[in-house]
Amino acid sequence: MRGGVTVRTLARPLTSISSRRDVGRSRGKMCGIFAFLNYNVARERRYILEVLFNGLRRLEYRGYDSSGIAIDADLRSPVAIDKGEGNDGGEEASRLPYNSAPPLVFRQEGKIESLVRSVYSEVDAMDLNLEKSFSVHAGIAHTRWATHGVPSPRNSHPQSSGACNEFLVVHNGIITNYEVLKETLIRHGFTFESETDTEVIPKLAKFVFDKARDEEGEQTVTFSQVVTEVMRQLEGAYALIFKSAHYPNELIACKRGSTLILGVKELSDDKNSGKLFHDVKALTKDEKPKELFFSSDLCAIVEHTKNYLAIEDNEVVHIKDGCVSILKFDYGREKPASVQRALSVLEMEVEQIKKGNYDHFMQKEIHEQPHSLTTTMRGRLKDNSVVLGGLKDHLKTIRHSRRIIFIGCGTSYNAALAARPFLEELSGIPVTMELASDLLDRQGPIYREDTAVFVSQSGETADTLLALEYALGNGALCVGVTNTVGSTLARRTHCGVHINAGCEIGVASTKAYTSQIVVMAMMALAIGADKISTQARREAIINGLSDLPKKVSEVLKLDGEMRDLAKSLIDTQSLLVFGRGYNYATALEGALKVKEVALMHSEGMLAGEMKHGPLALVDETLPIIVIATHDACFSKQQSVIQQLHARKGRLIVMCSEGDATSVCPMGSCRVIEVPQVADCLQPVINIIPMQLLAYHLTVLRGYDVDQPRNLAKSVTTE
Ligand code: AGP
Repeated sequence: MRGGVTVRTLARPLTSISSRRDVGRSRGKMCGIFAFLNYNVARERRYILEVLFNGLRRLEYRGYDSSGIAIDADLRSPVAIDKGEGNDGGEEASRLPYNSAPPLVFRQEGKIESLVRSVYSEVDAMDLNLEKSFSVHAGIAHTRWATHGVPSPRNSHPQSSGACNEFLVVHNGIITNYEVLKETLIRHGFTFESETDTEVIPKLAKFVFDKARDEEGEQTVTFSQVVTEVMRQLEGAYALIFKSAHYPNELIACKRGSTLILGVKELSDDKNSGKLFHDVKALTKDEKPKELFFSSDLCAIVEHTKNYLAIEDNEVVHIKDGCVSILKFDYGREKPASVQRALSVLEMEVEQIKKGNYDHFMQKEIHEQPHSLTTTMRGRLKDNSVVLGGLKDHLKTIRHSRRIIFIGCGTSYNAALAARPFLEELSGIPVTMELASDLLDRQGPIYREDTAVFVSQSGETADTLLALEYALGNGALCVGVTNTVGSTLARRTHCGVHINAGCEIGVASTKAYTSQIVVMAMMALAIGADKISTQARREAIINGLSDLPKKVSEVLKLDGEMRDLAKSLIDTQSLLVFGRGYNYATALEGALKVKEVALMHSEGMLAGEMKHGPLALVDETLPIIVIATHDACFSKQQSVIQQLHARKGRLIVMCSEGDATSVCPMGSCRVIEVPQVADCLQPVINIIPMQLLAYHLTVLRGYDVDQPRNLAKSVTTE
């Protein structure tokens, strides 16, 4: 019998808990967690494995150095129980309930496919029946990007409470007080096998559970009581999924900081087709067949269901007997309160997470930019004006700001840099740029009179979120520009704009970059909309925006040409990219793309700085790309080209269509001609040949396009 015991009496706090509970102070590692629970519907073990593997494949972009899963074993025979033999044998197993057996855990170093191969070979070796059917079953899975401990099976998740896997945990995030918890648990007789921060969690769960059982008797504590007591001890940021042999066919998920989604698919009796739920309440007393999912990301859920819930911080979601109950954990309260949440309907198509006819996600995402840009602008350009619903109530405050600060990392920073000149021009407000990590290192001044614009595709980048907490603390108006609905950035900023570029899976950001620039150009138009003096300019840009997807389709026709250029650069060691004005950002972003995926040294430079050092590098061998499309800086770029020529530089010039002879007299250099658009929108066009070049260089050099070495999509660690 379970229930009836307050957790407080079960386990005194293991450690004194510091007051540092602010999620913004620490983020986690980049990992993906996933779980699948089928209820009242027969699913074979092979099917369950494939759902788990597929969930991991969808999340692999978040980390790809090791992975693992846990599924149920076959029930122990009465003889084995009498002898106290579980999967691992011994006394521990005899403490499991009679209808339970230690779950099976598989962990492997390397990419998901290496886990898949090892699982099938292990189940074969142990003669596990893959055709065995479960009418209810709970499986958990994890893909890792190592921070604590090298990639290895031992450090992979699920992490376990001990020999019998009584409690298993998959974790995305970081436990900042794990060392002190570990010391305490070691003093209580626990032994640790991994170098991870995560391992303290299942061990803590076992400690809490054992203490309750010893004090109150068999099975007096519920799974959610165990988990809330564990949460009480943890500091840091996390999304966790728990599976336990003591609570078979149940799952618990909880979070602080890291994103976690619940997906719900009700199955009709006939064809197992999906049907809508509207409220989690509807799931509290319901024996209908269904499948439930937990995931770090909507991408892993969309192929199963469109009904989801973005779990909020401190919520504990418990799935038991086909019902979902949600508790709100509160440090100050002994008993967490029960909460009701409505399910949302996902506006994402399965095609978004599939490669379709493309070889790689990066390739697909480059080529779908005419479409993603159309979606970014949909419903936002009206009668020569821009309507941004998420900003309109704050435009007045922004216009009265003393300064606008763009804050981001990597590609998102570059997108903001591309938008900066136009925002300065239309708003008349000084616009400064901050790399999030540098702002934090310096603790740079931010004031109440500032508007801080945070740009992030994922909305989960640790440095950007920490900078956001810092700016919030200093009283600035905080605006978010993100691709991820429900992300921490979207939730923590005062207002903002979603870029609506669709799911971006390739680690190298491509379509998000161009959509970010377009959103920030629209922001500039909205902020500057009260100025009569710039009306004609604004109207011209709005027309240019409407035309942009067509121009992007045109520039994508350079694909073959970029492949040829990549062939000519395949063996070079290094590449320089010079840009200025609107296209300084193009130089930085083009070089970032090349170094990130093609693993070739590449530097983007401000052309105005050329004579102040970089010119010394120029010789006949080093390839240099100069961005010289038609804008106010054109004549200056012509002069740069001449100077590079004079030093016999190996030049590749990007220019506007029809300008080839003026940038490259006598055909002395290679030319990339691109369609001309309004100057402030030209970075959207100019980056595309660079994206194509990086893509082809990577394929030709034989590297992994979508999952470049050492990187992951969401950098959720400082
Ligand atoms: C882009 O190609 C990179 N993978 C990286 O620079 C990225 O833009 C950066 O980590 C910021 O990510 P965010 O936009 O999700 O915040």
